[in-house]
Amino acid sequence: MGARPQFIKLAPVVKAFKDLNLPYKILHTGQHYDYTLSEIQFTALGLEEPHFNLEIGSDSHARQTARMLTGMEEVLVAQKPSLVLVYGDTNSTLAGALCAAKLGLKVGHVEAGVRSYDRKMPEEINRVVADRLSTYHYCPTEGAMNILKSEGIPGILTGDVMYDALLQVPQEALQHPFQRPFVLVTIHRAENTDSPERFGAIWDGLNLVSREVPVVFPVHPRTRHRHLALLGHGTKDLSLIEPVSYLAMIAMIRDAACIITDSGGVQKEAFLLKSPCVTVRDTTEWPETVDAGANLLVEPAAKPILEATLTMMRKKAWVADNPFGDGAASYKIARHIREHCL
Ligand code: UD1
Repeated sequence: MGARPQFIKLAPVVKAFKDLNLPYKILHTGQHYDYTLSEIQFTALGLEEPHFNLEIGSDSHARQTARMLTGMEEVLVAQKPSLVLVYGDTNSTLAGALCAAKLGLKVGHVEAGVRSYDRKMPEEINRVVADRLSTYHYCPTEGAMNILKSEGIPGILTGDVMYDALLQVPQEALQHPFQRPFVLVTIHRAENTDSPERFGAIWDGLNLVSREVPVVFPVHPRTRHRHLALLGHGTKDLSLIEPVSYLAMIAMIRDAACIITDSGGVQKEAFLLKSPCVTVRDTTEWPETVDAGANLLVEPAAKPILEATLTMMRKKAWVADNPFGDGAASYKIARHIREHCL
């Protein structure tokens, strides 16, 4: 693993491995290296230091992935693991699956079968390739199982490890300094941040929202680097803050009047914490949240963002079964690995 969402997915799996006394080693590609994206997340999640850190850092997709492959190959050849477990859909997932498969090692994909069907997203390409190369496909939902089935791949229904992570959080650790009501924002995806027009329109929307309800926006380094001049220092009602730890983020999602995001993980966490969500994207890999009425997709345009946010804020509650399992996905994965690989 190597990027923020993967530290969250890894944490419950490591806990299950420890509880079942199974051997493992953690390889960090170093894709995320900022203190706020990497180190504070490790501390918040109670994760130990990785056994290997390739310290790859940021680069173009090809160079970043190539350097990951080179670094991983050395480690995998020396370690000869019985299985390589990859998580989600980042460049670290792609590199892990590809490197292990080429070495003839078994690959397990956690969060398999998830699709947005939007090939403009690098994450979609990473997921599809990781699924083609994996030996075992640990699916978070029935929907993901069905998608894999339609592609001729048998999945294993485990539930979602991000739900496990959420349930394992100590309630007393869930704190943040913001007064309610507030709207919580995260925008960092390449398709929203790479185009100045698209990000400018989203920024205008956030400013409109902040005239109605105070907005808190933890800014991902990608977004900050690309739009330094536009973001400035924010305004009184639009607070720009550094990325926060997993625990603070969960507390803020729980307490927000509404969440505006383009993150996959945040859409799920909003649903699980019963906070309404507006997703600034054309597609979502988590249609379950939209079907439940908990999540609304909106185009990157100022007025639609405001209108969607006001609509979702008025929404009291929704009744929906939880499609993300029973909170024991990581134990199902660990037991499956014990039976088939160790
Ligand atoms: C990556 C994942 C994305 C995930 C996100 C979570 C891919 C293709 N994308 O996106 O799916 O939702 O992580 O955060 O793998 N940067 C820093 N410091 C860091 C990391 C990144 O400043 O520690 C900046 C750099 O300007 C860099 C840019 O972010 O060029 C992109 O980083 P990269 O790791 O390629 O992807 P993310 O946008 O973080």
